[in-house]
Amino acid sequence: MKILDLLLLFLPLFFAIPIQSSSSQPHFLRSSTKTFSNQRSGAAPQQYFEVTHPLPTDDITPACSVSVLNHSFGYTYGSPPVTVNYTPPPATCEWSLAVLEFRAECKGEQYDRIAGVWIDGVELLRTSTAQPTEDGIFWSVRKDVTRYSSIISQPNLTLAVMLENIVNDEFTGVYHINISFLYYSDKVARVPLSIVPGESRANSFNRKLISINSPENENNLEVGRVLNSLYPYNKPADLVLPISGALDEGFWFRIQDEFHIETTNLQISQKTYKAVLELYVSFHGDDEFWYMNPSDSYVETNHLATGRAHGAYREVLVTIDGQLVGSVIPFPVIFTGGINPLFWEPVVSIGAFDLPTYDIDLTPFLGLLLDNKKHSIGLQVADGISFWLIDANLHLWLDHTDVNAETVKYKVPSMQIQRKSEFVLLDGEFEVEGERSSQATGWVNSSFGNLKTQCTEKTKFKSKLKFKSEGTKKELDQQIKRKTKIKITNEMGQLIGSLEVKIDYPLKISMDTQPGVDEDTSLMITKVEQERSERFYGENSSRVLSHKQNCNGSMVVMGNSVLSGSADNHQNYNYQDEFGCYSRNVGVVDGDVVGDQTFFTCEA
Ligand SMILES: *[C@@H]1O[C@H](CO)[C@@H](O)[C@H](O)[C@H]1NC(C)=O
Ligand SMILES: *[C@@H]1O[C@H](CO)[C@@H](O)[C@H](O)[C@H]1NC(C)=O
Ligand SMILES: *[C@@H]1O[C@H](CO)[C@@H](O)[C@H](O)[C@H]1NC(C)=O
Ligand SMILES: *[C@@H]1O[C@H](CO)[C@@H](O)[C@H](O)[C@H]1NC(C)=O
Ligand SMILES: *[C@@H]1O[C@H](CO)[C@@H](O)[C@H](O)[C@H]1NC(C)=O
Ligand SMILES: *[C@@H]1O[C@H](CO)[C@@H](O)[C@H](O)[C@H]1NC(C)=O
Repeated sequence: MKILDLLLLFLPLFFAIPIQSSSSQPHFLRSSTKTFSNQRSGAAPQQYFEVTHPLPTDDITPACSVSVLNHSFGYTYGSPPVTVNYTPPPATCEWSLAVLEFRAECKGEQYDRIAGVWIDGVELLRTSTAQPTEDGIFWSVRKDVTRYSSIISQPNLTLAVMLENIVNDEFTGVYHINISFLYYSDKVARVPLSIVPGESRANSFNRKLISINSPENENNLEVGRVLNSLYPYNKPADLVLPISGALDEGFWFRIQDEFHIETTNLQISQKTYKAVLELYVSFHGDDEFWYMNPSDSYVETNHLATGRAHGAYREVLVTIDGQLVGSVIPFPVIFTGGINPLFWEPVVSIGAFDLPTYDIDLTPFLGLLLDNKKHSIGLQVADGISFWLIDANLHLWLDHTDVNAETVKYKVPSMQIQRKSEFVLLDGEFEVEGERSSQATGWVNSSFGNLKTQCTEKTKFKSKLKFKSEGTKKELDQQIKRKTKIKITNEMGQLIGSLEVKIDYPLKISMDTQPGVDEDTSLMITKVEQERSERFYGENSSRVLSHKQNCNGSMVVMGNSVLSGSADNHQNYNYQDEFGCYSRNVGVVDGDVVGDQTFFTCEA
């Protein structure tokens, strides 16, 4: 690890006046008592939404459904999660696909909050809340939870929901949450995921409809291709084990700093032939905007009263028995109080209602785990400061007999990082560049044959953060890139399957703070440009997602309350697989949806 810390100037010792500039806090409260340009008083509650892919089941009547929770989250700060009994529908309901529906409403003044849903410690959904208005808002999140079938098909489990909220004289918003599960028969539900409601009305749309496991489906190759394109959960795991904490604290581990390691000891079945670790991650407190944190020396030298520092690189690390086996630089999800809250109404930012999860294929490491002994799985955050909420689910696929496995070789080094920090008083430039190449090879001898899995991965991270005009102008340009290749070969060296995953998360933010017209106020000009690009290329299949958001606007703030402002948000969502395309373009100006178009045609 190479650390370059160029400190251009040390300040005289007695220049020790703590500066609490409002711009050191990019988390704001959209004051609900102020009338914004788009708001009429006494209007009906408004629906908020995240632009995303509709589910293939959305226009289908479920075979059955179970309402598990109707609960109002008032003052819940510091309390354990709300728990209820979970029991799946009776055996008479035949299902093989399941969807979790999370419905929320809120009214009054309130910050955005983080929430999680677990069944017996296995996390099913990580979501954040929108900031309400006086007239009230509501939204719903639907997530395909078929991958957790082995859990949600069991009776008498405990479903837990954590949503820490504070209600007092000032913050009046109570979040009312209803959760239900919808179960669908595979006879009616269709794959791939890009099939959307209303498609029959779209003439230009001519993709093949097929159902999973349907006996009348004559085209097995087609099914194989589709299933392949849903990697790694093409078939739900036979067992999902929680890598999570205690119920009282909401199961997620609250990671406080870079030295904080949370380990879970477990012994896995000798029958395991495939293993995938699914990470749930969110960042809060001084690390909510980790990508905009300057170096420690900048904060110390300028005597700033903020904990938001320690540079702008973070990575979640996964270890087995203390050895690094995988890592993830998470997609920077901006919650609804972030940068400029006026951007996020009624359309929220990418991933805010259904936070992305990250898969680490541990199949090459089964040789380390399959010895009838306990092993420790560790989670930590490189360079992290307070605080991160992290847990994981270990998905295991089981053979009918014991299998043998050997981890042939692996090399997962820590990130090679170069940092540059240059500043004079409050102006400066902070650069971080990191790169890592890792590989792991292992074979598993099961009833499917003796198959070798080879994973190679390359991660690149680049961040440039500039502070100008005495620190009142902040500009970020960040790139996260990851390329993963998975190759499966048989004993004869013949290729059985291959997959390439390319991930790109570019992010540009600028925030310019100027003195406001009124005393104690400031005017902030804000901009966000971000993309979530995830591409999967199988041998015979591919799945490509590009979700972009482009936001600009200004706001007048006092402390961290937004008094007035104006904001634009444009989002382009494009999804394509070999069966067709889905795209949606949404334009929002000052909280009004001025454009919302959906297309089912692929661009040539
Ligand atoms: C939630 O409310 C709905 C509508 O009143 C009701 O049908 C359902 O049974 C309730 N669920 C629970 C778990 O109380
Ligand atoms: C939740 O269920 C209750 C009935 O128990 C209903 O009154 C309320 O409108 C529902 N809320 C949401 C957000 O769906
Ligand atoms: C679930 O719990 C209920 C109440 O304790 C019990 O009557 C029922 O037999 C249990 N079901 C199973 C499948 O364990
Ligand atoms: C794989 O398993 C089969 C059946 O148990 C056995 O015959 C074969 O020798 C095993 N191969 C290796 C490399 O262990
Ligand atoms: C890909 O297609 C080829 C030719 O149709 C076929 O032989 C092969 O088995 C397919 N591979 C996968 C992984 O489905
Ligand atoms: C955003 O930028 C566009 C193009 O520069 C401009 O026309 C628009 O007024 C800006 N919107 C806001 C809210 O500042």
